[in-house]
Amino acid sequence: MLKDDSGKHTFARVAADYDAVRPGYPDALVADWQAFAGITAESRVAEFGCGPGKLTAKLAPLGAEIVASDLSPELLAIAKAHCTPYPNVRFVCSSFEDFEAAPESFDALIAATAFHWFDKATRWQKSAALLKPGGTLAIVHNIHRHDRESGALREALDALYGRVVPEALDALYQPAWQTSSDLAGEIDASEDFDLLADRSHWHEHVLGAEDYVRLLNTFSFQHNLPAQVKMALFEGVREIVEAHGGSIGSTYEARLLIARRR
Ligand SMILES: C[S@@+](CC[C@H](N)C(=O)[O-])C[C@H]1O[C@@H](n2cnc3c(N)ncnc32)[C@H](O)[C@@H]1O
Repeated sequence: MLKDDSGKHTFARVAADYDAVRPGYPDALVADWQAFAGITAESRVAEFGCGPGKLTAKLAPLGAEIVASDLSPELLAIAKAHCTPYPNVRFVCSSFEDFEAAPESFDALIAATAFHWFDKATRWQKSAALLKPGGTLAIVHNIHRHDRESGALREALDALYGRVVPEALDALYQPAWQTSSDLAGEIDASEDFDLLADRSHWHEHVLGAEDYVRLLNTFSFQHNLPAQVKMALFEGVREIVEAHGGSIGSTYEARLLIARRR
């Protein structure tokens, strides 16, 4: 098993690396969210699983009142630092499951690359209960689209993964996209929500060899590999990237699902 329940705690262990080398979210995605969710300076917004605030810092300038939460104090400290100029953002250390607020107290909820970690049995019902009628839940995923990449560097990396962690190759190619598609299906099937928007914004994230290895270590399934396997994998990655010019560009699909509460 490459992924287990401890996966959601990976991010706190690599907080500084996560902040430094994970890709951010395109401005166009934030503009889409603002337009579809009707966000104004009067809106009340809750963000769950805000991590080091990669998205929070982009939402903050919109002026809405934002309560941003995460279960990790380490990540929240980084997010707070990024949002220092914005008194409209308040931080709460809480899991989604334990988050407390009055019913129907938010116009919009948002979770970036986090909603899939929340309790499957309660996440839709809880989200609906927190929202005013007609309010929106936005689910964002920054998806590394390996399947859209080609060329000698990608082929060499795939061969390495095939040799060192063959079971990870499948995980590398479909999980995040599949996760967000599954969530789109759950919105469709839900009694509380209608799917209002499903928008994708493509972007490129370029890193040097060392930073690319730091990035890989922030993904739970690679972070949690046995030490020897991880070392072999990361040394191999470093060598391959160095041999192909020293940097690597990755293709990301930032996907925004917006569900409207009935
Ligand atoms: C992949 S990170 C995304 C962080 C940030 N939203 C971003 O997009 O960069 C997932 C985040 O969800 C948080 N998380 C995981 N399970 C959670 C839960 N049940 N309740 C609240 N936050 C959770 C983790 O601590 C982590 O910060």
